[in-house]
Amino acid sequence: MQTVTTLDALRDATAQLRASGEIALVPTMGALHEGHLTLVREAAKLAPHVAVSIFVNPAQFDPNEDLDAYPRQLAEDSALLEAEGVALLWAPSAAQVYPQGFATKVSVSGVSEGLCGASRPGHFDGVATVVAKLFNQVQPEIAVFGEKDWQQLAVIRRMARDLDLTLPLADRIVGVPTVREADGLAMSSRNRYLSHNERTAAAALPREMKAAIARIMAGENVNTALNALESALIEAGFTSVDYAALADADSLELLNTAPAGPARLLVAARISSTRLIDNMPVE
Ligand code: PAF
Repeated sequence: MQTVTTLDALRDATAQLRASGEIALVPTMGALHEGHLTLVREAAKLAPHVAVSIFVNPAQFDPNEDLDAYPRQLAEDSALLEAEGVALLWAPSAAQVYPQGFATKVSVSGVSEGLCGASRPGHFDGVATVVAKLFNQVQPEIAVFGEKDWQQLAVIRRMARDLDLTLPLADRIVGVPTVREADGLAMSSRNRYLSHNERTAAAALPREMKAAIARIMAGENVNTALNALESALIEAGFTSVDYAALADADSLELLNTAPAGPARLLVAARISSTRLIDNMPVE
């Protein structure tokens, strides 16, 4: 695996790889876990070369969020990627990505506005900006993201369509189903912030989401089911619930009646200062 940290070295490395086949990019912020490695394995099925980026993107963190505390473990991550047969690791510095005088922002309206967009103002501008840059830098034919960040995936697909990004084409932005722990908790780099008791309580999130989906599918009023879900999470030890919402799976428009087409239940909730998100199909 080649590790590059400058744009010049990246261009040389990607040109060399592309000469013998397509590149699938897996953008990450590092602190890799089995969920990320699943993305890498899916990417390897789609293209002969897999490139992974590791960049903890300051632009997507609010000033009072966990940017400084966000786990950084480049040596460990690098060993994991090497073992997966990744061809290229792009690990730029913040100064490389946001040089002095950087003044451009990619802002996607509509799909980025509710849910996490409402509880984390500016977050999706930061995501869209850095992902547009990563696509331009690596110029992959395919890009692979986790469905755990369902709204993020919708924002990135919208951005790629709207900006006519040729590489990767919007239909080659691939979503991979969420990888879960044995008790159902979605894998996340932030799970490591949880104490033993908090980790036990966190398992209520997927469990109560499944229960809410069953109630909605059985015909219960959607708002009643969502309120019951929020109460059950607080009862189980969550500190607060940012949102629990039923939404159209593509447009993310909120639904307050049982869905006629593909829909998702999406939740963001906090245990102390740790914010967990999850989403599941409602079917
Ligand atoms: O999902 C993530 O890890 C990040 O939001 C991403 C897509 C790498 C952009 O920084």
